[in-house]
Amino acid sequence: MAGGERLNLVFENLYALKIETEFYIGAGIIFNKEFVVFDEAKNALLIIDHNVVNQEYVVRFVKELGEIYEDLTIIENTEIEPRTSTVDRMVTQCKESRLNAVFGVGGGSTLDTAKAIAILLTNPGIAENYQGMNKASRPGIPSIMIPTIAGSGAEITPSAVLINTEKKFKGGINGRFVAPTRALLDPGVTAKAPVSSTVYAAFDAFVHALESYTCKLASPIVKMFGTEALRILLRAIPRIADKPEDLLLREDLLLAAELAAIALMHSEPGPMASFGYQLAIRHGVPHGLANAIMIDKTMAIQIEKGADYRFLYELLPQKPSVEGQKEKSLAAYQYVSEIINNVNVPKNLFSYGFMPEHYEELASFVDYAKKGFPAAVTGFHREDLLKVLMSLS
Ligand SMILES: [Fe+2]
Repeated sequence: MAGGERLNLVFENLYALKIETEFYIGAGIIFNKEFVVFDEAKNALLIIDHNVVNQEYVVRFVKELGEIYEDLTIIENTEIEPRTSTVDRMVTQCKESRLNAVFGVGGGSTLDTAKAIAILLTNPGIAENYQGMNKASRPGIPSIMIPTIAGSGAEITPSAVLINTEKKFKGGINGRFVAPTRALLDPGVTAKAPVSSTVYAAFDAFVHALESYTCKLASPIVKMFGTEALRILLRAIPRIADKPEDLLLREDLLLAAELAAIALMHSEPGPMASFGYQLAIRHGVPHGLANAIMIDKTMAIQIEKGADYRFLYELLPQKPSVEGQKEKSLAAYQYVSEIINNVNVPKNLFSYGFMPEHYEELASFVDYAKKGFPAAVTGFHREDLLKVLMSLS
């Protein structure tokens, strides 16, 4: 999920747990008719990521869906960053279809496109009208999201982030009615995702869980979901390169991404997610990669500033025997840093055109940075971010 968004589930003195999307996890679940039909199987729309359209597992799914539904319209999504104009065009294409279901099969961008379409098919006007919070007045077409990589949690979040082509900004259609009806988390669908994208996406989930947990407003419910997500990720990420097609590992990553997204929906993002998000939208750095880079450098600075990561130390699969808050926090950091380095995260982002002359601008841009992230594990100011960025050179 994007950093910087607040979904009105963060409170000072009460706890909330609100998950609008029902989700099911299991190998082969997408082939079970019961899970791919709501009331009737007449007309469905499938928005599918063009990268997965020829994968055997997905091909079989699309074929079976075509046999279940009387009429299945298939639109391939080729955009890495979904645009309002594209969503409007796709909506026009199927406006007359009287759809019973909208399917999204793909990564976060494809799922965001499908979520936006589901809303725009029942709410009049164009996508731009709904960018903001709670702007839709009617529920969308029932939707089913099937992620092809585990990390963003887009399959359960009440948010569809789109680039506004006309006005040149990126903004979410957020809140009421945007959460998908159902998510089907099938490790068979994610098994062929490349290792590097898998690891980066897993770090997206890692940031969601870590910053949700360490947010000063985090409720015990957030901590529960965050803890379990982190416990799973600390074990699964280092193993995925050796066993990329292991369905149990893939299932673990899907579960962790969901738990992390639930934690984030009820908490607030910190500097890692917020700056990772800005790197993604302003400089085209893949969101997960931007997060991985931010974790490594940010944690080190936060520990210097007194951050307590003992809870993370307690979750490590192997704990070095050290005592004290700082020592345990550093041991947790070293473990995480080693995982990041083992997957060859680039040392800088020059290949994305993110150069030293952009550092000041990025550090100054983010609103949160001006406030110094008061709810994060430690304050994190402009100069802290500049330190992170300088270490990229
Ligand atoms: Fe994210």
